[in-house]
Amino acid sequence: MLAGFERGQGMQIMTISGSLRAQSRNTALLQACAQLAPAGMTLTPFTALALVPPFNPDLAPEQFPVLQRWLAELRAVDAVLVASPEYAHGVSGVLKNALDWLVGTDVLVHKPLALLNAAPRARHAYEALQETLQLMSVDWIAPASLTIPVVGDLSCAEAIAADPACRAGIQQALSALQQALLPQRILAPVCGG
Ligand SMILES: Cc1cc2nc3c(=O)[nH]c(=O)nc-3n(C[C@H](O)[C@H](O)[C@H](O)COP(=O)(O)O)c2cc1C
Repeated sequence: MLAGFERGQGMQIMTISGSLRAQSRNTALLQACAQLAPAGMTLTPFTALALVPPFNPDLAPEQFPVLQRWLAELRAVDAVLVASPEYAHGVSGVLKNALDWLVGTDVLVHKPLALLNAAPRARHAYEALQETLQLMSVDWIAPASLTIPVVGDLSCAEAIAADPACRAGIQQALSALQQALLPQRILAPVCGG
């Protein structure tokens, strides 16, 4: 069930894009991150955002297979990397909806998390998302939470990975993520299963 998210294969990072757009710059930025990931780090996208039901606190996330799987995958990964668009000075509705399902769970508590901002002018959503995630008690990795301007013609992962400024920003963010996770992996007990 957890294909791509098994432990024991180096650092496992789940990427979450807050955009459902096929040509999303945020999704492309996260794909470029996956392409440039250092040895021993694997980035795997959460691809079911569009299938997350509307949040209803009367219901438990475990009642929905898509959320059950997501919770298990989040528990299994070492860290989460998020990038989201801003819509009308707010967080993307689909992403906020999905995060609301996690509030009553412990999956993001002390989960290392970094947030990338693909649009320098989109401060409202970035700050709101940071506030929400910190309220959910994530371990905020500030040095890995960078603005990486995905502007102009940069709309696919290959172009972003090849762009010198984006490439440098991505490498800086991933290196900071790696540095933040290293002590945890050294201290983590080795256990089977
Ligand atoms: C309805 C709508 C509202 C938007 N509102 C904002 C906004 O308030 N601030 C901003 O910086 N960009 C805004 N944008 C621009 C998007 O954030 C931008 O197109 C972004 O690249 C979309 O993310 P994506 O490429 O990952 O899909 C808006 C776009 C749409 C369609």
